Amino acid sequence: NKEIKILAIESSCDETAAAVVVNGRDVRSNVISSQIALHTLYGGVVPEIASRKHIEKINQVIEQALSDASVTLDDIDAIGVTYGPGLVGALLVGVAEAKAISYAKNIPLVGVHHIEGHISANYIENKELEPPFLCLVVSGGHTHLVKVLDYGKYEILGRTRDDAAGEAFDKVARAIGLGYPGGPKIEKVSHEGNPHAMEFPRAKIEDGPYDFSFSGLKSAVLNYINGCNMKGIEVVQADVAASFQKAVTDVLVGNAMKAIDEFKMDKFAIAGGVASNGTLREAMREACEKKGVKFYHPSPIFCTDNAAMIGVAAYYDFLAGKRDGLDLNAIPNLKL
Ligand code: KG4
Ligand code: ZN
Repeated sequence: NKEIKILAIESSCDETAAAVVVNGRDVRSNVISSQIALHTLYGGVVPEIASRKHIEKINQVIEQALSDASVTLDDIDAIGVTYGPGLVGALLVGVAEAKAISYAKNIPLVGVHHIEGHISANYIENKELEPPFLCLVVSGGHTHLVKVLDYGKYEILGRTRDDAAGEAFDKVARAIGLGYPGGPKIEKVSHEGNPHAMEFPRAKIEDGPYDFSFSGLKSAVLNYINGCNMKGIEVVQADVAASFQKAVTDVLVGNAMKAIDEFKMDKFAIAGGVASNGTLREAMREACEKKGVKFYHPSPIFCTDNAAMIGVAAYYDFLAGKRDGLDLNAIPNLKL
């Protein structure tokens, strides 16, 4: 009954992260070096700067993760690393690092899909959660409604046709002068706003019942602001934020509940950066309660990008016999 210890590495966007995870669900360390402050200067993530920062930070982040978990590389059974999707230059830093350690210490290498990581974050604090369940992944780059059939087995029911949910939060936040990253800032000012102040559109997609579209909503918000500016009417930031957040929440809850009914799911989880949004969580919780469906979500620290979730996914892949060679490459548009 040996413990399986995974060293996980994540560098797909603007977080340099490493973690040690034991037997898939026991997070012994979770180190995250965020570049948010740096990218805030430019109003969004600058890929070239992200890659350089990852290179500067990755060694110390890994050393910290090992030392926080009181282990050395000699105790590690496998290295899990995000190899896509994401920014190619950013991904390459983590992948090259993982391959170097794998080669130098002769430790098996397991490439992990970033979205599989987000989904797996739900296993950390919900020890009883096991597939099958339905999962909504909402992050800065993805909006996927996924049937988790088994560990490592997924069926995508719906996805965004244009902007990701988090992307919409970020763009609207910029438009109303809140800055980057938009999600947490919109959530904060929304507490002082009226979610029914404006009726922004909730997009329905005819030929994809579980698909999403947020670009129309974003345009509606921009048009509203332009209209106010032209007429000299003051834009009430909190009302716009709250009404926008309500529109996104309604669409996400609507599609998720439709899928729960159609596929008779009794467990539902949310994941990804936007899943840390309190209004979205409460709306999901309430909707699930009405149906008698069990609702799961990770703590905020496991919603936004982190390596612990990559370690969880890597563990189940490792158990299933998945191994990667030194030819593992970063794949920016990797499919689930
Ligand atoms: O999962 P994540 O850290 O990175 C990606 O894989 O994309 O997600 C980042 C996204 C950003 O768009 C950010 O604005 C959004 O998650 N986000 C939120 C909140 N916290 C982060 N959106 C809404 N409400 C939040 N509290
Ligand atoms: Zn992510």
